[in-house]
Amino acid sequence: MSNLPRLGIDIGSTTTKMVELVPAGKDKWKLVTAASMPSFSGGIAGNPANLGSFSQALIKMRKEAGVRATKVIAALPEGQVSSHVVELPLMSDDEVKQALQWQVEQYIPIPADRAVWSHQVIRKDPTSGGMEVMLVAAAKNLVNAYVSIMEQAGLEVVALETELMAISRAMVPSSYPTSLIIDVGSKSTNVGVVEKGQLVFARTIPTAGEALTRAIQSSLGLELSLAEQYKVTYGLDSTKLGGKLVEAMKPVLNVISSEIRKTADFYTSKHSGQGITLATLTGGVAMMPEMVAMLSGAVGMEMSVGDPFIKLVLDKPQQQALATSGPLYGVAVGLGMRDI
Ligand SMILES: Nc1ncnc2c1ncn2[C@@H]1O[C@H](COP(=O)(O)OP(=O)(O)OP(=O)(O)O)[C@@H](O)[C@H]1O
Ligand SMILES: [Mg+2]
Repeated sequence: MSNLPRLGIDIGSTTTKMVELVPAGKDKWKLVTAASMPSFSGGIAGNPANLGSFSQALIKMRKEAGVRATKVIAALPEGQVSSHVVELPLMSDDEVKQALQWQVEQYIPIPADRAVWSHQVIRKDPTSGGMEVMLVAAAKNLVNAYVSIMEQAGLEVVALETELMAISRAMVPSSYPTSLIIDVGSKSTNVGVVEKGQLVFARTIPTAGEALTRAIQSSLGLELSLAEQYKVTYGLDSTKLGGKLVEAMKPVLNVISSEIRKTADFYTSKHSGQGITLATLTGGVAMMPEMVAMLSGAVGMEMSVGDPFIKLVLDKPQQQALATSGPLYGVAVGLGMRDI
């Protein structure tokens, strides 16, 4: 593993996060910088004609944050990536590549010659003679856009991966039983199943923080910015505003919680193991007052807000500055922790 400083960059649909890490021994990293700024609305996928502006914004952000590292690991938005678990007979890594070459098209919504894909072995069962691999594919155009934005900002992309892969590395200990990670962002809620520290199933639900704000806006007849402010400040605290915020957000939260439940049930039904009873929550919406308690009850799982800094060394000022904003940085930290 290289000991070079590296940057994890997570360009979300609302917020861009950047984390600079330096390896500091086995499974430990020193946090150099953590910074965030508003994204162009819709993120990269929503702004194909606006890529130059992204580079300019990244250059400014790096300068202001005092970031020196130039090697970048970036996240592709979960919703733009196809992640599939493929069952194969036991074979070598080269054979897996060859086998997938012929199958990849059936798992992705675009022709194989316009896609970039890679795989990771997630399970080998010598008794049954079978194995499972996670196949991850994205459009070449999207990957090229990320590489080009970073290059224009003077950065070198050394790896790209999915948001959920990064989060699971940052905050799910390998000793955990099979559990969920739930990233409630702005446009989407990403749900992953993690087994022995490894992501084995991934899904995107296109409902998250933005839908909560809009629900408050229309239900209470408020300006969008005020609805956002209420959501962030009072969240699901039913003692505030006569419980109207909870009432307004409830239908949206029901969609999110029932899709999370379905994801867990689907996974359990496919893998005749025990049900999943544990979940880690992250993403901006994890910071909403009473969110973790409400979601835990609605999904019927023990749930806690994940700490992305658990494997990092932070000095006192960093601890104070980041005390409450951990949920924003799960993806960026996990990216920075990847082997390069
Ligand atoms: N304290 C808070 N309470 C409630 N919501 C919050 C709070 N802080 C941030 N948010 C919400 O979190 C969302 C942004 O979170 P995050 O940065 O994880 O999203 P993103 O990565 O930009 O979006 P996506 O992952 O969907 O592309 C916004 O909807 C914002 O309103
Ligand atoms: Mg996000």
